[in-house]
Amino acid sequence: MLLEIENLKVHYRTTAGVVKAVDGVSLTIDENQVQGIAGESGCGKTTLIKSLLRLLPATATVTADKLLFKGRDLLAMPDPKFRRDILWQEISLVPQSAMNSLDPVYKVGDQVIEAIQAHSSQSRKQAAERTAHLFDVVGLQPNLMNSYPHEFSGGMRQRAMIAMSLALEPSLIIMDEPTTGLDVLVQERIIRKLLEIREQVKSSILLITHDISVIAEMSNRIGIMYAGRMMELGESVDLFENPYHPYTLGLKNAFPSIKALDKELISIPGSPPNLIGDLPGCTFCGRCPFAVPRCDSERPADTWINDRHRVACHRLDDVADIRAKAGEKDTWHSSKSAA
Ligand SMILES: Nc1ncnc2c1ncn2[C@@H]1O[C@H](COP(=O)(O)OP(=O)(O)O)[C@@H](O)[C@H]1O
Ligand SMILES: [Mg+2]
Repeated sequence: MLLEIENLKVHYRTTAGVVKAVDGVSLTIDENQVQGIAGESGCGKTTLIKSLLRLLPATATVTADKLLFKGRDLLAMPDPKFRRDILWQEISLVPQSAMNSLDPVYKVGDQVIEAIQAHSSQSRKQAAERTAHLFDVVGLQPNLMNSYPHEFSGGMRQRAMIAMSLALEPSLIIMDEPTTGLDVLVQERIIRKLLEIREQVKSSILLITHDISVIAEMSNRIGIMYAGRMMELGESVDLFENPYHPYTLGLKNAFPSIKALDKELISIPGSPPNLIGDLPGCTFCGRCPFAVPRCDSERPADTWINDRHRVACHRLDDVADIRAKAGEKDTWHSSKSAA
């Protein structure tokens, strides 16, 4: 087991109150795995990964029943040790809007070389050779190492950041919305590249995106996150073929599937709730056409459907009916009559 997260909570203190951005998330990542996490913007995805990498502001409080990386307690690890042994060496990050993360005044290659040298004892020559190899892996000509970021397209800058994340052969690479903001063709190309890279490196990948179709192509396991909580988690194929949570069904409706491009898209009306204060029930109940009174008052427990598939919903017994109705536009866009 690479990463074990149990009941992780990340709360931000603000003048308006406590924002429960991540509120009791459990998740494990194995070796050689691509774990996707999908959910709309504002659901706590970036907060979750920043808590793993210690990139949160001082206003954030992190607690967990368990937060283990290769069996080592990450919560208890002192900062210098974390920075020396874990960050980049073991867990690396391709940050959200990575294409804007390069320093405009330095050559792209130098930035990767320096990142390698900052975290290892490699000589400049070794680091340069490694960088040339990494450029090749992500599909950039090694002579582009001498270019400046402004000479790169958005997709090329994204690839450079992916090269940087691979630099020290970490066990886990976290990618936060790696294709968001790129045009569709470039997105496709990056995904294809990522699939190739996945074959070449042994690292596991934690892939974060709001676009469920991107995740379906890339991941062998998927978590569906909503308003600070993990609504459903399972093997990709199982989760796509046998979704249980109304939010998963709603997300599937809202994004084009490669397999059914002509299918009409149905959006989920409304937006994620304000995460300040207590939401005693299911955080999705305000938008859920299948909500019953209990959903408003009682938090649904994580329930295992099989030994790899977990759902937090009060209406699991009615899943056949819910699946049938979730595919109809009226269910989501007329008055709340589906329940
Ligand atoms: N520094 C912060 N202080 C207070 N609230 C924050 C902070 N950063 C994020 N949030 C809030 O936490 C919630 C989750 O945000 P985020 O983790 O960025 O979600 P996502 O990556 O899924 O879009 C949002 O409601 C957001 O407004
Ligand atoms: Mg985000």
